[in-house]
Amino acid sequence: MTAHPLQFDSAIDVLRALAEPTRCRLLALLSHGELTVGEMAEVLGQSQPRISRHLKLLSDVAALERFREEQRIYYRLTSDTQTAQLVSLVLARIDVTDAILQRDQQQLVQVRDQRVRSVSAQWALVRRSAESTYSDVRLVNAFIRALFDKASSHSLGDLLDVGTGSGSMLSVLAARARHAVGLDISTQALRLARARVHGAGLNQCVFKRGDMYDLPFNSSSFDAVSFDHVLSTSDKPGQALKEAVRVLRQGGRIIIVEDKAKLAEMAAENPQVLMRRWLERAGVQCDQVKALRSGQKAKLLGVATRQ
Ligand SMILES: C[S@@+](CC[C@H](N)C(=O)[O-])C[C@H]1O[C@@H](n2cnc3c(N)ncnc32)[C@H](O)[C@@H]1O
Repeated sequence: MTAHPLQFDSAIDVLRALAEPTRCRLLALLSHGELTVGEMAEVLGQSQPRISRHLKLLSDVAALERFREEQRIYYRLTSDTQTAQLVSLVLARIDVTDAILQRDQQQLVQVRDQRVRSVSAQWALVRRSAESTYSDVRLVNAFIRALFDKASSHSLGDLLDVGTGSGSMLSVLAARARHAVGLDISTQALRLARARVHGAGLNQCVFKRGDMYDLPFNSSSFDAVSFDHVLSTSDKPGQALKEAVRVLRQGGRIIIVEDKAKLAEMAAENPQVLMRRWLERAGVQCDQVKALRSGQKAKLLGVATRQ
C-alpha cells in the first residue's frame, strides 16, 4: 500500500461523500463483503434507485468498485488506495454497537441466509451427482494444519483459489491470507461462495468470475494458488496449471487437493506420480505429494514452489 497521503481537495471530496447517514451505512455494510444494489436496498429498506444514487456518489470518489457478473452489478470497498485507507480509518472509528448499524447487520445476515438457501439446493444436487470431485473441508483443514506455519497469521500472502465452487478452500485458507480471491466460471457458485465466505466474516476475500485457462490477472500477482478438486474435472489440467504458474510470484506456492480414486481414473499411472508430473510439467518444483485418509475417502495433497 502506498504511503502517499491524499491531496487536500480529494480528501475533502471523500469526507463529503461519507458525511451522510445512508452512505455511511452502505460503507459499513460493504465492509462485510461484496453486495448487489438489490441486496443493499433490501437490507436498508430503501428503493434501488435511491441506493444507486448513493453508490454512484461513493464510486465517484473511488470509495467503491463496481463490477458486473452476468446480469448482476456488485459493489465492494476499494482496496490498496489512499481513499480506501481514509474510508477504513473513518469506519474503524464508528461505534459498531450503534442501534442502526446493528439492525443493518442483522438484516444482512438474513439476506445472506436467503441467498445461501436459494442457491445451495441446486448446488447440493450438482454436488451429490459427483461427490468424489468435491472438497472435504475437515480434510483440507487437516492438510493445511500439517502444512503451514501456525505462528504466522498471513503466511499465504495473496491467495487465489481457482474453481472455488462454494468456497470451501477459502473458508479454510483465507484466514491465513492477507488477501484472497475466489475465481469460478459459474456465477451461481460465486453467489453461494460469497454468501458463505463473507457470512463467515472472511472479508479479506473477493470473488471474480473467470476462466482458469485464461486467468484475468497480471503475471506475478499471487503468493499462492490453490485448486481444490478442480484439476481432475478438467480436460486440460496442464494448461490450467501453467496459467496458475504465470500469475504466481517467484517463491509462490501451488496447492492441489484431489480425490485419489478420481486421479486413478484419469491415467494408468500411480495418482501420486500423476500429480507430481502435472506440477513438474508446469515448471514448478514439487515440494511434496502427500496422501491422507478421511473415512472412506483417500485424498492427495500436492504442494509446489515457483523457483
Ligand atoms: C468439482 S467443483 C470443485 C469446487 C470446489 N473447489 C470444491 O472443492 O468444493 C469444480 C469447480 O470448478 C469450476 N470450473 C469449471 N471449469 C472452470 C473454468 N474453466 N474456470 C474456472 N472455474 C471452472 C466449476 O464451476 C466448479 O465450481
